[in-house]
Amino acid sequence: MGIAEKVAGIFPAPEQVPAQARAAALEQKEYLVNGRIKAWTGPRHEVFSPVSLAGRKGPERVRLGSYPLMTEKEALEALDAAAKAYDEGRGLWPTLSVEARVSHMEDFIWRMKERRSEIVNLLMWEIGKSAEDSAKEFDRTVEYIVDTINALKDLDRSSSRLSMTQGIIAQVKRAPLGVVLCMGPYNYPLNETFTTLIPALLMGNTVVFKPPKYGVLLHRPLLEAFRDSFPKGVVNTLYGEGRKIIGPLMKTGKVNVLAFIGSSKVADILRQQHPAPHRLRCVLGLDAKNAGIVLPDADVDLAVAECLTGALSYNGQRCTALKILFVHRSVQSEFMEKLVTGLEALKLGMPWEPKVKITPLPEDDKVPYLTGVIADAKKHGAKVINECGGLANGNFVYPAVVYPVNEKMRLWREEQFGPVIPVTPFSDIKEPLKYVVDSNFGQQVSVFGRDVEKIAPMLDTLVNQVCRVNVNSQCQRGPDVFPFTGRKDSAEGTLSVSDALRSFSIRTLVAAKDSDANKKLIRGILRGRKSKFLSTDFIL
Ligand code: G3H
Repeated sequence: MGIAEKVAGIFPAPEQVPAQARAAALEQKEYLVNGRIKAWTGPRHEVFSPVSLAGRKGPERVRLGSYPLMTEKEALEALDAAAKAYDEGRGLWPTLSVEARVSHMEDFIWRMKERRSEIVNLLMWEIGKSAEDSAKEFDRTVEYIVDTINALKDLDRSSSRLSMTQGIIAQVKRAPLGVVLCMGPYNYPLNETFTTLIPALLMGNTVVFKPPKYGVLLHRPLLEAFRDSFPKGVVNTLYGEGRKIIGPLMKTGKVNVLAFIGSSKVADILRQQHPAPHRLRCVLGLDAKNAGIVLPDADVDLAVAECLTGALSYNGQRCTALKILFVHRSVQSEFMEKLVTGLEALKLGMPWEPKVKITPLPEDDKVPYLTGVIADAKKHGAKVINECGGLANGNFVYPAVVYPVNEKMRLWREEQFGPVIPVTPFSDIKEPLKYVVDSNFGQQVSVFGRDVEKIAPMLDTLVNQVCRVNVNSQCQRGPDVFPFTGRKDSAEGTLSVSDALRSFSIRTLVAAKDSDANKKLIRGILRGRKSKFLSTDFIL
């Protein structure tokens, strides 16, 4: 079957959905606030899958259910609950021992794991991520929580001792910051929300969390787990239109940490709404336009394989995706030919199909956006070099390889976040390096080559432009123990299993002059286990 035919027939009939993948509509009429799952009787947002199924009038997007469209009133109620639970640092949760917080989190993991299959299926239907990758997202998240607990135990052990310097006895530990507003992105709605939510909680903060625009219902099975695992008010949920409900929260000044993965434009708006921005800590994962640079001596087969996965995993909807490729003219024709052949071998289809790589896109306005950037590139002299590149059917877009891309085109600077691979030929290495230096983004880059003499100086230039240089491999966030951050418009703060614990806390210490009276006092506190902070106890 040709590509055009495959795209035309991409959406199956309802009876072709395998029984284990079918999902009944989920009408969410609840939200979690102050330890209670409250009924919602107001308006709800209708959720449609990016997947269409054949209907009487042609393919129709599958309705997955609905969720509450909360208003400013409920948003403020959730924030007040979190602020009350924190109680200016005097609440039960921020003063609980690390061991007790870990025990609450372990309860949560058990409860979360019980809902695995429902969550994975909802993830797949809501954002069109393949069943395999949806399962991976869930498992990676559980693993992240377990690893974060272990990192916290290490931190607790290493800060359990007192130090004596220049006549001062001190104990330095990390303390919580307050109320954290957590907002994750649609492409990793579970994982990326939890990579901020979990460390924030473990460090003793209280949380209000709002799922992204797409990928909301998958959080519903966890409401009871949150309610039953944590003291009241420690976790509160918000649903609705960000524009309407997040602004009022920021304006109260009661949000101490903004943990947001999304666009730098929105992050700037939110930060400026806070009445005292210097009081707001921001942990941000923002825009990126990671470049892949293919040098003349690159192993072309390897470079093609990595660039394809890098550019098209989950249809290119990853902040770490390779979003522009620079290919040396000497290998350009071989590279392009192999890239197109590799692309044509990728399986298109529905997210439940085994080994599927290209699936429908969740964002409502994505198809016209991608069509627009391709048309703009054509207007400025580029071509779509693969058969049917950019061909759309409903929310499905067949990947396009666009060549040659230059600085006049939107694809040169815009983060397409979709299945479009812009390629630019170069003769002098200064050209791609200039691109990276001039770019507004500074997350990662990939370099493909074998010559020690050429790669080494490039590394030394690139490490001061981005925060991860990948040698002969695609860009990626993992393993999660590695620091994940960016320069310029790409990030603020560093996330990783251990860095996130630092991002959501502040170092604070108890210090006293080395006098007999102070020693007696400290000894009394330690021996009587009178303080949770000033304590040499640690978790074994
Ligand atoms: O969308 C951004 C993600 O953090 C990327 O993670 O590289 O593991 O896909 P990944």
